[in-house]
Amino acid sequence: MTTNAQPQLRPDNIEEVLKAMTLEEKAKLLVGGANNFFSDNAVVGGEADLVAGAAGTSPAIPRLGIPATVLTDGPAGVRIDPTRKGTTKTYYATAFPIGSCLASTWNTELVNRVGQAIGNETKEYRCDVILGPGMNLHRNPLCGRNFEYYSEDPFLTGKIAAAYIRGVQSQGAGVSAKHFAVNSQETDRTAVDERVSQRAARELYLRGFEIAVRESQPWTIMSSYNQINGQYSMGNHDLLTKILRQDWGYQGIVMTDWIGIRDGLTTISEVQAGNDLMEPGQPAQVNEIIAGVKSGQLAMADVDRNVRRMLEYIVKTPSFNHYPASNAPDFVAHAAITRQSAAEGIVLLKNNGALPWKDAAVKTVALFGENSYDFLSGGTGSGCVHPPYVVDMLEGLKQAGICSSPVLTDIYRKYIAFARAKFQAERHPAKWYQREYFGQQKYPEIAIDPICVNNEVQTADAAIITIGRQAGEGVDRDIDTEFNLIPAERALIMDVCNAFHAAGKPVVVIINSGSVIETASWRDYPDAILCAWQPGMEGGNSIADLLTGKVNPSGKLTMTWPIAATDHASSRNFPGQLDYYTFKDLYGGKRPIPGHTYTNHEEDIYVGYRFFDTFGRDVAYPFGYGLSYTTFAFSKPVVKAKGKDAVEVSITVKNTGSVSGKEVAQVYVQAPNGRLEKPAQELKAFAKTRELQPGESEVLTMTIPVRLLASFDEAGSQWLTEAGTYTFRIGNSSRHIAATAQLKVAAYTEKTTQALAPQQPLNRLKQ
Ligand code: BGC
Repeated sequence: MTTNAQPQLRPDNIEEVLKAMTLEEKAKLLVGGANNFFSDNAVVGGEADLVAGAAGTSPAIPRLGIPATVLTDGPAGVRIDPTRKGTTKTYYATAFPIGSCLASTWNTELVNRVGQAIGNETKEYRCDVILGPGMNLHRNPLCGRNFEYYSEDPFLTGKIAAAYIRGVQSQGAGVSAKHFAVNSQETDRTAVDERVSQRAARELYLRGFEIAVRESQPWTIMSSYNQINGQYSMGNHDLLTKILRQDWGYQGIVMTDWIGIRDGLTTISEVQAGNDLMEPGQPAQVNEIIAGVKSGQLAMADVDRNVRRMLEYIVKTPSFNHYPASNAPDFVAHAAITRQSAAEGIVLLKNNGALPWKDAAVKTVALFGENSYDFLSGGTGSGCVHPPYVVDMLEGLKQAGICSSPVLTDIYRKYIAFARAKFQAERHPAKWYQREYFGQQKYPEIAIDPICVNNEVQTADAAIITIGRQAGEGVDRDIDTEFNLIPAERALIMDVCNAFHAAGKPVVVIINSGSVIETASWRDYPDAILCAWQPGMEGGNSIADLLTGKVNPSGKLTMTWPIAATDHASSRNFPGQLDYYTFKDLYGGKRPIPGHTYTNHEEDIYVGYRFFDTFGRDVAYPFGYGLSYTTFAFSKPVVKAKGKDAVEVSITVKNTGSVSGKEVAQVYVQAPNGRLEKPAQELKAFAKTRELQPGESEVLTMTIPVRLLASFDEAGSQWLTEAGTYTFRIGNSSRHIAATAQLKVAAYTEKTTQALAPQQPLNRLKQ
């Protein structure tokens, strides 16, 4: 047969191509073409070299016109090597706001636009799939990857993710919604067994993925490293086939997280479970599939099913469609989207009237805190991005026409240069996440002499203190040094507040952190606090827009800010029971023992505000909270049935203040007493107004499908909405309800597959 006689892959001849494939070719297509993760450690000459620094590929089979596809991290922008050997051309990518910041916009239309820009950069850089959105729940504030994830609430997570996915995919590029599932900690992530009830799994950890699958059909989903009730996600048939495909109707492919071969799990079992692409892929896995089919251990039908799904994925990709990648995305347009979305995601936590700085009232600012000058645009690990620039506070203020103290600039710049050199010299060579390649590092805050602070009071109109926190893949956060303030930060806040307040001058604290920090012990001192998250490469500009009132804050927290980190019910089991054996490896000589390393989800469904609101615990800032420079009034809501299957909630939001702004209406539903225990309230809908002028109103209408009011009934393996009177509580945080209405709802049930049963009885927190 000549080459010309081979069928060449087209969207309409997938079966023909499948028939023409040899077993070897089929096996090859199910295993990634190795990875290019560490740029100085890259697999040279392989398909992974297609785009330097991309995380992985799916392999090419040129005989049948099957191109390689390229997978890049994600999720806050395209993470590829900014420079390449043999060329002076650069490949920087826009650093968009991190997940927590994007979600805090509560603006799905805006998130969709960010998704479009990310999808565009993905294909312009000759990639096919961006490895995001990160969709795991903020089960505990100490998870090192919370910055990549959206919220402690699954509904909000699902809605934001669906908007991001639709945006990326509208550009003809794909996403990989990750990490499926229950991957809410980094400690021992590749071994830990997440022991969780079927109810908490379905209602919390899977629900966001379910919403995203139903509403946006991601091209790909990434299975997580961890186990769920004794089974690794990547080889978990219940998860990858019963729940994902049978219950939810998922059409795309599943790929593994980047682990290759692992103890206690065969590639055969992963193929059988419904995992279509092994990443980053090793030749031994190809051989295992071939041997499995030959020995009869692996059915050809299972291989064909996964290969078919791979082909269906490939025909959608830019690589297949010969997209002419420019390697030159429109940074100017994308910077504007970054600046705007970050400004909408930044949350004003406190304001005693000091903000905004109107009419050039503040001309000179004393800028404290090392991250004012080394601003953290994003987190570390695979979630970092290499942007062309980062606008820090100094630059952001300058562009807004506000001067900063040259003395402080000099002190901090020298310190940062010193700290960077020291870090480079001392970093642990085996700790990959300490490589600068994996993102900006955070250097410890330094003490500033009170004499120096007092000098600044003479010349500055106001002070800013930036408190920075860095976190990322592979490690969870430490309570004492990362959740709480360290003594030098505490002293800085006290000294600056005392000195500036004595002169009647305001102090603003900017939190430059991907996740929650302790605030209760110091928040009374500054005049205003802005949680800026890690807002992407335009961060300093976005913050200046808010400080000067060019933009009115409208971000709302997507997670509870507790008084102490240990206040969360999950804290008793975070990161869980750990047991190690010693081994000389990259990570310093110990490895977790599978089966002995587990996390009991004793808090069950009581994660985040579901716990704090049900059990009446005080918090520092509640879920949904965020201040504005104006005020809003909510009308009496109208709540009525919409057909048989939905409830319609409408409410009028009026700007009652003196400047324009946006507000978020959040609908929390309180269920009647019934057979199943329920949290005090759960978020079931939200909507954001347009920019309302003073005195202007907008009617927000939201539809809640009755199936969304359901709880998971383990006994019947079904979703169950119990009949009764439901209370719809509408406000602008879980603790600030402005209006309520009630409606009788009829019973609703929806059978599911029986899946993910725990292997041992679970202790469960009860009301
Ligand atoms: C991370 C994933 C990432 C992958 C490829 C893994 O270590 O968990 O989120 O997409 O690496 O870089």
